[in-house]
Amino acid sequence: MNTIDKSRIIKRRVVRYFNSQNEEIIFIKGNGPFVFDNQKRKYIDCVLGYGPVILGHSNSIFNNKVSESLNTGIHLPSFTPYHENYISNILNESKIDIDVVSVFMKTSSEAVTGAIRISTLKTGKKGVLRCGFSGWHDVQHANSPSWHLPPQHRKAIRNTEGLRGVSNDEKVLNWVSLEIEELKSILNLHGDKIACFIIDAFQWSFVDKDVMEKAIAYCREFDIVIVIDETKTAGRVSPLGHIGNEVNLWDILILGKAIGNGAPLSLLLAKEDYYDYTLNSQIGGTHSKELLSVQCALITQEIMQTSNAYAELKKIGNSIAKSFNSVTEKLNCTELLSMHSIFGGSLLDIRFKDQIYNDPSKLFLLQRLFLDNGLLFLVGHPSFVSLSHNQLKTNDLEDIFYKSILSWLNEIN
Ligand SMILES: Cc1ncc(COP(=O)(O)O)c(C=O)c1O
Repeated sequence: MNTIDKSRIIKRRVVRYFNSQNEEIIFIKGNGPFVFDNQKRKYIDCVLGYGPVILGHSNSIFNNKVSESLNTGIHLPSFTPYHENYISNILNESKIDIDVVSVFMKTSSEAVTGAIRISTLKTGKKGVLRCGFSGWHDVQHANSPSWHLPPQHRKAIRNTEGLRGVSNDEKVLNWVSLEIEELKSILNLHGDKIACFIIDAFQWSFVDKDVMEKAIAYCREFDIVIVIDETKTAGRVSPLGHIGNEVNLWDILILGKAIGNGAPLSLLLAKEDYYDYTLNSQIGGTHSKELLSVQCALITQEIMQTSNAYAELKKIGNSIAKSFNSVTEKLNCTELLSMHSIFGGSLLDIRFKDQIYNDPSKLFLLQRLFLDNGLLFLVGHPSFVSLSHNQLKTNDLEDIFYKSILSWLNEIN
């Protein structure tokens, strides 16, 4: 038995990082755009906790304000004016002219589960139609393809063992191809049993905007509740994410990850006329009213507002993508891989030539080689930037990209 891999903490593959020598990297500290491991090695962090750390690690303004906020206590008997202020600020900043009802959660998986329950109360139907990753709860995960890969590489349907939510009268359906014809045939067969259509906003990066708009319009013909999941994008692309400002496109909006700068907070916003369904769905638990994460979110919001942050993040992301793509040009491998600036640069995604996706070990090799050279960057999943990434020097980045991609090309050829 291999005892080295055993740990008391269950760590899924997505939270384990190995270099090309198969050495697991154990991180112990973060500062600005960097994380440090237990061997005192420094890495540029473009994972950022899978998105939350929007200001950068250990931001001193954030830290000081959070310390002050501890004096109010971190969990009071019920919701507080801080919770109210937070919602009002989001609405004011987004300038949307509708009112919403909100449910505070810790994770987006919970919020999406809540949205499914609300949708069932509203429609009397139990089926779910998904497009994109929306969390780990059974209905979100059972029978999922690899949602973060381009549509043509999403063949594998996985994760049914031990999960529910796939029985005949509670169908969970995937719109995998992002082709309207597939959606129409799903709706024609099952539309009368589908309560909600959940779309991860990241899926907008694979298609023209009007494809998603058409999809939403078709779903509306079947009285299906539209849930836009802005977990990866809220507080990053804009306060309401990529599409949240377009209030005609959603009934329920999910925010998460970056809104708390690492504190666990997620929000379900539903249109005002969902008040009764949302109340009656009885979603929420002990920690829903917890205050510390809301203080963190208020502080994050203030720092973002005063630093022109959304534009700055795009600038930073674009400059990283530019460095990467200049290196692939130098190495004459633009056909094989390129970095995409998603939603103006707020997210980054390396996309590969089709044949590379057929051999996932080639994808993961690149991630390992990045680590050898001091960079934490995801493959097969978008990566993230923080405001502190403006400290990075183009030459350093290009050097890391150059060494990593050169080794990668040597190994895969
Ligand atoms: C679009 C989307 N929805 C939901 C989730 C689940 O969020 P959480 O991990 O907070 O439960 C994720 C997580 O990555 C996500 O990207």
